[in-house]
Amino acid sequence: MTERHPPRVVPLVDQRSSSLTTPAAAFSPETRLAANGLITDKRQRALRDLRISVTDRCNFRCNYCMPKEIFDKDYAYLPHSALLSFEEITRMARVFVAHGVQKIRLTGGEPLLRKNIEALIEQLSALRTLDGQPLDLTLTTNGSLLARKARALKAAGLQRVTVSLDGLDDAVFRSMNDVDFPVSDVLAGIEAAREAGLGPIKINMVVKRGTNEHEILPMARRFKDTGIVLRFIEYMDVGATNGWRMNEVMPSAEVVQLIHAELPLVQLDPSSPGETAERWGYANAAGQHDKTAGEVGVISSVTQAFCGDCNRARLSTEGKLFLCLFASQGYDLRALVRNNPSDVDLTSAVAHIWQGRTDSYSELRSAMAPDTGLGQRRVEMSYIGG
Ligand code: GTP
Ligand code: 5AD
Ligand code: SF4
Ligand code: SF4
Repeated sequence: MTERHPPRVVPLVDQRSSSLTTPAAAFSPETRLAANGLITDKRQRALRDLRISVTDRCNFRCNYCMPKEIFDKDYAYLPHSALLSFEEITRMARVFVAHGVQKIRLTGGEPLLRKNIEALIEQLSALRTLDGQPLDLTLTTNGSLLARKARALKAAGLQRVTVSLDGLDDAVFRSMNDVDFPVSDVLAGIEAAREAGLGPIKINMVVKRGTNEHEILPMARRFKDTGIVLRFIEYMDVGATNGWRMNEVMPSAEVVQLIHAELPLVQLDPSSPGETAERWGYANAAGQHDKTAGEVGVISSVTQAFCGDCNRARLSTEGKLFLCLFASQGYDLRALVRNNPSDVDLTSAVAHIWQGRTDSYSELRSAMAPDTGLGQRRVEMSYIGG
């Protein structure tokens, strides 16, 4: 019998230990760049979205993200001293906002495991975009602590949450989170978020063929007419430990077809430039979008790359700036910020880094044979944030 999966590759090199250095030009008076909200990268892509990972720990062990075999009791998580403090994060965030960032997403790991995360949210919610508006301040969570924390998060200034949920069947869900966590507790968390006013709520479901595709329709039925936006995510080859195989990816086009056959859909226009999800609305009898029924989204990083207008930067738990979810190395902003730079230097450094950006991993991967990767070992999603 042939083995379906090759044995998992145990990381031999810790990607967290190496980093790129900030271009020297960033600090030279002649080439110093100020913030005007207009910087673009080498492909003319703006900077609009900052994702901040606040912890590399999680209480789940989703096989596609933190497989138990690797993330076991001996795994070396970052020590507390390595983490950016809330003040450091807020200082960095202020610089990114000055460069035009309008949305900040807190991620992990599981961000609600970071002690006193409400204090960080309070600091971030005081920031204003270049045109004086509050930020779109959101957080991705597995929902396990949401029932307990939703009200405090809202009171601290969080606007909305996105909850990861891979199915409604309890046995399927328990086996996917791999820590036997019951689906009912996540549903209670979603309800608490709704009661607290943390909307519009989004739910992200990673679809793995052979594991949870039979949960697609029950999930669609369950969240139709609720105001909650359910998004289906193609299982990605992110990181280096999840044993990704193309035959476990269910293309979004199939997901849309499956739902459409029972619950007719119409495609909707993007709601903002560079967004990850393609939007589909539930149709009424006349074939028009029925707004009360709501919409679903599909995120098709594998079959339909969306790098063309990718405006997302990622700040890791220990303060490295990654320009792509699939990057191998990040720029060490923690070293920079702990060297007491002036605001001008910090701002210039971020501008130079973004201006040098060429990343477009998903596009490049699409052009390659299935089941091949590109170049160096990539960082883990639990470290860099989703
Ligand atoms: P909204 O503003 O709420 O629509 O958020 P979003 O779609 O920008 O962010 P979210 O974190 O909910 O993204 C959903 C999923 O899309 C993530 O968990 C990833 O699986 C994937 N994703 C997000 N950003 C990127 C990206 O830049 N590249 C790729 N390839 N996948 C991404
Ligand atoms: N493929 C797709 N999405 C993933 N996530 C984590 N690992 C993967 C992967 N391999 C995303 C899921 C989850 C969020 C925290 O990270 O969307 O909801
Ligand atoms: Fe934790 Fe989210 Fe990764 Fe699952 S996908 S292990 S909940 S960080
Ligand atoms: Fe952006 Fe990289 Fe994702 Fe492409 S693969 S959309 S460049 S983060």
